[in-house]
Parts: sequence; structure tokens; C-alpha cells
Amino acid sequence: MTAVEEWDEGPFQPEAITVRVPAKINLSLSVGPLRPDGYHELVTVFHAVSLYDEVVARSARGIALSVEPLRRDSDVDAVPADERNLAWQAATLLAERCGVEPNVRLTIRKDIPVAGGMAGGSADAAATLVACDALWGTGLRRDELHDLAAQLGSDVPFALHGGTAIGTGRGEHISPVLASTGLEWVIAVLDAGLSTPKIFEACDARRRRSGEQAPAPGVHPDLMAALRSRDIGAIGAALYNDLQPAAVEVLPQIGELLALGVAAGACGSLVSGSGPTTVFLVDSPLAAANVEAELRASGRCRAVRRARGPVPGANVVNVR
Ligand code: C5P
Repeated sequence: MTAVEEWDEGPFQPEAITVRVPAKINLSLSVGPLRPDGYHELVTVFHAVSLYDEVVARSARGIALSVEPLRRDSDVDAVPADERNLAWQAATLLAERCGVEPNVRLTIRKDIPVAGGMAGGSADAAATLVACDALWGTGLRRDELHDLAAQLGSDVPFALHGGTAIGTGRGEHISPVLASTGLEWVIAVLDAGLSTPKIFEACDARRRRSGEQAPAPGVHPDLMAALRSRDIGAIGAALYNDLQPAAVEVLPQIGELLALGVAAGACGSLVSGSGPTTVFLVDSPLAAANVEAELRASGRCRAVRRARGPVPGANVVNVR
């Protein structure tokens, strides 16, 4: 008789977790009044697109963070690699919440434009929550991660969620939209970055100058109907962003790019969030190629990219 060997390795302890997380654009962004807490009440339709950052979390002693470009034209110089980074804050918050030591070495590989209005920093924070939760075995439910995400920033919960979803409150309350339509985008990344608080302030200042009261925010029914009907032309016509006039005022070249993309055949154009990234909805490969070529030829873009949406939110793509 042969002896049966005992095989008990104990719980699996991963050494490294890689999480991929998408950028977002806002198909609509309706900005209401400034609240006493300094945020604006808003209603937005978030849409996750296939430009991704990756966060690798490795076991370590203490916390450390580094930032790398994922592609040659990714610009990471402006990204802080210390506790100012929202990913660092995400790891610390999760550790506090779960009563564990924040032992992790984080590597952020960036492809989402920095300060572009595509929520790259928020995406990295969401990815860090998912990665550290898996690395440390803290096993939080999605709704518990969502609560932590909301404490970190208005756009962080959506980066966990992905897809197409309505955001309310300051953006942190998420409800999914049934929009099965796959959308194709051309994305123009400018060299400049715009500060989100400054663009919200500029929006308020424009309203004060024109004597306009901030309206109660909402989603235009045309957009919801267009998303349901899969009518790309109607979706293009219904895209809107209350922050766009302020972003164009601060950086007039945004307005020129928007006009250029539409003249080249885009069905719709939009400033993404608080800008300065501009996005163009296209309905055919030919239109995509034309829009891309015109934007590149303008000499005003640091990068021109194609992406599709909706795509899923932050998820683990590798465990070692
Ligand atoms: O939540 P987050 O830190 O991403 O927001 C950055 C800044 O953007 C806020 O400090 C605020 O100035 C502005 N903001 C706002 N209203 C929102 C979301 C953000 O005024 N709903």
C-alpha cells in the first residue's frame, strides 16, 4: 500500500495582482447648482471606453508607488508618485477599513490621458481598491468597495462599475443604463491639461455673467431614447456637456477641434468631462479614418486615438 501524502498549502497568497481599468467619457453632463460642500449637483451619463490604465499591486513592506507609460506617447510626468496620488490614498483607505497593514508596491501603467477629463486618476484609485482587495484577501463585496470609492472621488465608483450608467449626486451614485449599442469613438488628446475645479468655477462664472440660474440637472430624454434605439446619428445629436462652453472659453482651440471633427464626418462631438480631451462619435471605419486624419493634420493634438464603448469597469486580468 502506498502512503497518501498530505497536501495542505494553506490559503493561496498571491504575489502580484494586475487590474485593468477603463477611461470614461460623459455622453451627457448636466451641471446643477453649487452645493454647500463645494460640489455641484449633477446628472451625467457615464460611458466606459477602451483606453486603459493598469495597476499592478505586489506584496511589499510598507507602501510604495511608481508610474510608468503604457505606450510611448503616454505622458506620465505630471502624475505624483506619492501620497498625493489617489491610488495611494485608495490603498490606505482600504487598509484602514479592513484593519490590515497597507503593505503594497503599486505600479501604475498609464495610457489614459493625464488631466484630460477622462477620469484617469479616479480609474487608478478604483483599480487599486480591486487589486489590494485581492492581494490582501480582504474580500469586500462590490457595494463595500463602491462606498470606499465614493469617499475617494466623484468618478471613482463609475470606474469600478464600467459600462454605460447614470451618475447622480456629485456623480457617485450609479445606476446602469441598458444600452447595448457598441459605439466607436475617435479621441483627441491635447497637450494642455485643464483643472476640473477651475472648469466648474468657470461654468458658474459664465452663468453669473449671463444672469442664468443653475437649472435642476437632468438627462435629456432624447439621449435615452437614442441609446435605446441604437440610432448612432440620434446619439451623436443628443450628446451634451454643460462644462463645454467653459472649457472652450479657457482653451479656444478645443472649439476649433470640435468643428474640425464634425466637418470631417463625425456624427457628434463633445468635450470629455471638464476637458480638454475631445471625443468624436463615428458611424463607419471610413468616417473614423477621416476624422482621425484631420485631427492629426491639425497639429494641435498630442495623440489621436480610437476607442469603443461600453466596456467593463476595473477587473483583475492577471494573478501571480
Ligand atoms: O470628486 P473629485 O475629487 O473628483 O472632484 C474634483 C473637483 O471637481 C471638486 O473638488 C470640485 O471642485 C469639482 N467637482 C464639482 N462637482 C462635482 C464633481 C466635482 O464641483 N459634482
